[in-house]
Amino acid sequence: MNQQTEKNLGLKTASRLDGIGVSKILQISARARELKAEGRPVIVLGAGEPDYPTPDTVKAAAQAAIEANDTHYTPLDGTPEMKQAVQQKFARENDLNFDIDEITVASGAKQILFNAFMATLQQGDEVIIPTPCWTSYEDIVGICEASVVAVPTRPENDFCLEAGDLEAAITPKTRWLLINSPGNPTGAVYSRESYRPILDVLNKYPRVWLLADDIYEHIVHDGFEFATPAAIEPELRSRILTVNGVSKAYAMTGWRIGYAAGPRELIRAMAVVQSQSTSCPSSISQAAAVAALNGPQDFLHERQQSFAERRDLVVDALNRIDGIECRSPRGAFYTFASCAGVLGRKTPAGDLIESDTDFCRLLLEQADVAVVPGSAFGLSPFFRISYATSKQELGEALDRIAQFTGDLSTE
Ligand SMILES: Cc1ncc(COP(=O)(O)O)c(C=O)c1O
Repeated sequence: MNQQTEKNLGLKTASRLDGIGVSKILQISARARELKAEGRPVIVLGAGEPDYPTPDTVKAAAQAAIEANDTHYTPLDGTPEMKQAVQQKFARENDLNFDIDEITVASGAKQILFNAFMATLQQGDEVIIPTPCWTSYEDIVGICEASVVAVPTRPENDFCLEAGDLEAAITPKTRWLLINSPGNPTGAVYSRESYRPILDVLNKYPRVWLLADDIYEHIVHDGFEFATPAAIEPELRSRILTVNGVSKAYAMTGWRIGYAAGPRELIRAMAVVQSQSTSCPSSISQAAAVAALNGPQDFLHERQQSFAERRDLVVDALNRIDGIECRSPRGAFYTFASCAGVLGRKTPAGDLIESDTDFCRLLLEQADVAVVPGSAFGLSPFFRISYATSKQELGEALDRIAQFTGDLSTE
């Protein structure tokens, strides 16, 4: 085959993938893995997953499902048992009553988001998302050929969306507002009271739907009471999709089970997307997720406490470092600290830090700690630490960050 022919056969990707790539977080993890393979003692604080194992009762349920030959296609968007477990979860924990046909189950909350946006968005449509936000939102909206309208939030407002900023961002093209509470990467949380003005704005714009990404529901600190919009404002329930999953609460990221509840027309349209992509979520993972949702829940509280201790450890250590400033987040397992104070400084090797991306790159290359720059989430100069790792590793990583930052020179 000559070169010309080879070129003609070259892959031309669809325009819907323009500008969309593997997330920066995965790129950092890949670089960290390379350095580890070279024998470097890299500590990765980039992962968005709890370090706990999946509970034994959940693993046993999966093993039982395999033994019972529960290994075939399941109904399209969830087994009856799984949907019932989700129905009971919403009733028990959120005071929300849904019919079974208002519930959908997919291979992760990410697929739920994908199904919802694929089913409802088209070119020209807009999705309002408070930023900084999880990196995947923009790309999922982009694959659906719609655009994100980023509404910046402020550290002094604990990174929560202000109603006035929301209203100013709404246009005739707005289809969705997406709110993630507790939020990745900032740990922002919305109480019933802080949701109120936002829901009041939505009440005025009946075309705009609300997607509440509640995936970190069970990781809240300082006695914060989790709230979800559909329970706060029943009037809006006909246009709210409440998204959740087992990944973060039950340390089940690899099982790939997410779920949602909302108006049945939307749920039906999402099932159409799923039917032509994955057919159904894994039968074994659904059996495991049923055990997680129906099983003992007391360990969630213990884990919450353990996460809060690690958060305090990280926040205290970061605030002792000259040039770094960190608020104490009230949810999820991330800190989002400013590194504004180190910009303009140089490493002993002579590398100038001009941005959060430089800071994170050099921290990895020269101090063997992987964290994610705020630019990946839409706000600089910040960096995200995932503290879902052992206190020992966190302590060592923070010592290295302090050493690296202390060695920077200002001239
Ligand atoms: C805000 C947010 N939503 C959704 C997800 C996806 O979760 P799942 O593992 O259920 O796909 C993540 C994962 O990191 C996340 O951070």
